[in-house]
Amino acid sequence: MVEHHRKSYTANRVVIKLSGSIFGEDTNERKIRAYADMFSSIKEIQPIVISGGGRIARHYIDLARSLGSDEANLDIMGINVSRLNARLLLAALQDKAYPKIPKDLEEVALAAESGKIVITGGLHPGQSTNATSALIAEIVNASRFLNATDVDGIYDSDPNINNNAKLLKTITVQQCLRLLEGESSMAGTYDLMDIVALKVIERSKIPTRILKAEISNILNSIQSGIQIGTEIVS
Ligand code: UTP
Repeated sequence: MVEHHRKSYTANRVVIKLSGSIFGEDTNERKIRAYADMFSSIKEIQPIVISGGGRIARHYIDLARSLGSDEANLDIMGINVSRLNARLLLAALQDKAYPKIPKDLEEVALAAESGKIVITGGLHPGQSTNATSALIAEIVNASRFLNATDVDGIYDSDPNINNNAKLLKTITVQQCLRLLEGESSMAGTYDLMDIVALKVIERSKIPTRILKAEISNILNSIQSGIQIGTEIVS
């Protein structure tokens, strides 16, 4: 009898954390459509996109904090706003994207099996969309994790204070962890990369890059291999 060996096939997946700064009161149809079109133009690579909460999330979190809400509930609020942002992208992508916003890691993994673009928001309280994205990169076995944010990458000093601050081409996980020491971990204030994200990147050696969330940057980085921003090496 002929034995059938099933060839294992792993899709080439890229996880993209899309900064919440893309979404907000001033976001218009054209902008969301441009991001959606960019994601659907990507060939032979399956984008798994996590949208951030942005200013609206922070506004709601600040309001609820002043009303007496605890941190876990504030995180849940942030997650819900990030899911609303994800829904905007989903509205523009229509049937090019998996039709449901996954609510946990296993749902993300299942959604990825569809082969379609997957759009999600936050998943668990106590972390940022960066940490969530790193965990997603792990569970979908992504070849890369792009953290598309509102800055160009990681600088050797604060560019808002120091005019001569230099953008780093690479940084190690350990150096990132040192930069993070003493940072706050309250709802709405998780930074560029948090400890959970860095630990996940380190343990699974996920090739990670921080870059500004401009359409051409994201597309070039995925399709043309042009190195933009800062690479985190584990
Ligand atoms: P983020 O702070 O990650 O979104 O999520 P953002 O606006 O994209 O951030 P940056 O500045 O562009 O990187 C908003 C808030 O939602 C909660 C946290 O309180 C977070 O600060 N959140 C998000 C979670 O608790 N868990 C998640 O998985 C995601």
